[in-house]
Amino acid sequence: MPGKFMERILKAPVAFTFRDMILLPGLSEVEPSEVDVSTRVSKNFVLNIPFVSSPMDTVTEAEMAIALARQGGLGVLHRNCTIEEEVNMARRVKRAESFIIRDVITIRPDQSVGEAIRIMEEHSISGLPVVGDDGRLRGIVTARDVRFADYGLRVADVMTSLDKLVTVHEGISIEEAKRILQKHRIEKLPVVDEQGHLKGLITVKDIMLKDKFPNAARDEEGRLLCAAAVSPFDLERAKKLDKWVDIIVIDVAHFHNRNCFRATKELLKHVSADVIVGNIGTYEAAEDAITELDGIAGFRVGIGSGSICITMELLKAGSPTLFATAQVADAVADYGADLPIIADGGIRNPGDAALALALGASCVMMGNVFAGCKEAPGELVVIGGRYFKRYRGMASPSARARRHAIDRYASKRIAEGVEGLVPYRGDVASVVAEFVEGLKAAMGYAGARNIGELHESARVAMLTEVGVKEAGPHNIYLPSRETPSSA
Ligand code: XMP
Repeated sequence: MPGKFMERILKAPVAFTFRDMILLPGLSEVEPSEVDVSTRVSKNFVLNIPFVSSPMDTVTEAEMAIALARQGGLGVLHRNCTIEEEVNMARRVKRAESFIIRDVITIRPDQSVGEAIRIMEEHSISGLPVVGDDGRLRGIVTARDVRFADYGLRVADVMTSLDKLVTVHEGISIEEAKRILQKHRIEKLPVVDEQGHLKGLITVKDIMLKDKFPNAARDEEGRLLCAAAVSPFDLERAKKLDKWVDIIVIDVAHFHNRNCFRATKELLKHVSADVIVGNIGTYEAAEDAITELDGIAGFRVGIGSGSICITMELLKAGSPTLFATAQVADAVADYGADLPIIADGGIRNPGDAALALALGASCVMMGNVFAGCKEAPGELVVIGGRYFKRYRGMASPSARARRHAIDRYASKRIAEGVEGLVPYRGDVASVVAEFVEGLKAAMGYAGARNIGELHESARVAMLTEVGVKEAGPHNIYLPSRETPSSA
């Protein structure tokens, strides 16, 4: 009779991972080009593509978040910075485009032309509504008005005053706004209420961007969707970000922890954004979160599979992303919880993404893939004529030196991540295009028209060790094949 410890071995589940599995082909009634890859990332937000970038300081700052949201995905801003820096990143994303800008930068009529120029330069904008102390619109001053003006003049002296200004009220449609902008050959349209208080600003530039990125992930005001990472223990950061972001992502390596649960319960009382919790890796963690944390809006799952993670190697603890996804998806289904799952870590190609989606994820989060993009923070590195970008784990020694995200990991002494270089991949738009095409092809093999159908009917199979080898090229000499890692 096996005893307690032998039972542990004998009853151990197989923690399968991406390379162990394949998607089985199924009867297909769709061509890959007809496959719909739109999905939900959290309870209240829909993406047009199931790709999310990791909250890491070599992956997601404002530029990445803007570029990815324009393609229909979502960037999660990293938290390895001050609260102010993270809030500023979120503001940049939200201001990048919108039908009606709400956070309008204005100037008073008694301020000087010099100040108007400075404000326009600082925010890279070409005009400022002029607003009195009572909040009422007085006019508008543009770069053209101040170009050769004396710096000492007052804004009131050079602005286009209210009597010559075209304004509109709330509720105006994009089509109507376009018609007015065209008719009057103007670039900016202030939105005012009945009393003349400034309520927003419509600009030609924003309308053009909306037409340029029809697939973008947007909020109801036409602004790009934005998410930001916080520690569950940093309530102040969460509250400040809540004013700007649509989604707050609780960002700890092991969320299934009493203190994290307690702090998240408190945090949930103070924010109105959707709150995604993680990372978790087991059925039981999902079960506890579903039953104890009222008001959460999704899960981020996978512990230790990340390309820069050494947690599983060093601490022998973890839950590979594919295994974690299936575990959490089962709990979500068993409890009838309406909580989308983000599979996070270890995704190298569209096939890995397809597998994670087939096993219950609604989106995949990628660090490595997006770190190689032009829009990721950091300069290009050239070695031997080849281009790379730096990529580091948030528990790597240099990321920990910045300290803001140190509480993501259990140990203060042990580095659970590494740092290195990833091949440069070009811009986010082309990487996303490649992933979307690959994902659609994989879903075509599986016979799934959309991600819902993939959840319902996809079948997977385990590969043997020999099969894993056969899945890659073999019996051929490939001088050009890149081997950036062991992938
Ligand atoms: P990929 O495979 O896309 O994975 O590079 C990115 C995910 O890895 C997690 N992450 C870490 N995990 N040590 C870890 O154990 C680290 O230093 C580290 N940094 C990031 C995180 O979940 C990310 O989304």
